Amino acid sequence: MRVPIVAGNWKMNGSRAVAADLLDEMVENMEGVEAEVVICPPFILIPQVAQRLAVTRIKWGGQDLSAQDPGAYTGDVAADMLKDHGCDYCIVGHSERRTLYGETNQMIAQKFAKAQACGLIPILCIGETLAQRERGETEQVLSQQLDAVITQVGIEGFADAVVAYEPVWAIGTGKTASPELAQEVHHFVRKKLATKDNSVAHKLRIQYGGSVKAGNAEDLFGKPDVDGGLIGGASLQAAEFVAICRAAR
Ligand code: PGA
Repeated sequence: MRVPIVAGNWKMNGSRAVAADLLDEMVENMEGVEAEVVICPPFILIPQVAQRLAVTRIKWGGQDLSAQDPGAYTGDVAADMLKDHGCDYCIVGHSERRTLYGETNQMIAQKFAKAQACGLIPILCIGETLAQRERGETEQVLSQQLDAVITQVGIEGFADAVVAYEPVWAIGTGKTASPELAQEVHHFVRKKLATKDNSVAHKLRIQYGGSVKAGNAEDLFGKPDVDGGLIGGASLQAAEFVAICRAAR
């Protein structure tokens, strides 16, 4: 059985004071949550998050990492540094990194490999834009995004990873994919990976992301191939985020 996983992606939001309140309220209300829960704050807040969450069952991770070993890469953060701060996870290939910073499938595959080499579990984000969906290219786009990683690390790489399906048109827009649409795509992803390794595909957790809220989480997570969510905006409100975590059973 796959244990659902809900990850909060704070993006470039928060301050020490905001994080302190958010974490306190979250931790105090986590009782009874069955899902694995992960918080991905901005890099600079990771030490604070690590300290607050250390004796809880909530885990933490980065939103991005460098594909390089430590060295002369101004502004970057190495996988080893995230691991040194107790991170278990790291998001790779978020659509904002792909579109705003020009990260290619190959660059993302290298980050995925580097994360795993340093003992981090990558949360690989994949998803199509609205234009790609309207042109009927969804499956092709997702296949290319997955194939780049398979080429880099092999299908075995998915044995210790999470995939997040995030249709770009649903991120931060308030437009959620219907549970049926999400299930259809998640099923496609699992089926595609199963052609390479059935057991790996069956065990892989596939999150849905894109305008998930307390009000729609239960229906989305109720679908057989939806194993939790990657939550942006709603992860900045403790009550909303905890309700989403509770919906993943
Ligand atoms: P959203 O973001 O929940 O605000 O749509 C999801 C994400 O970008 O991971």
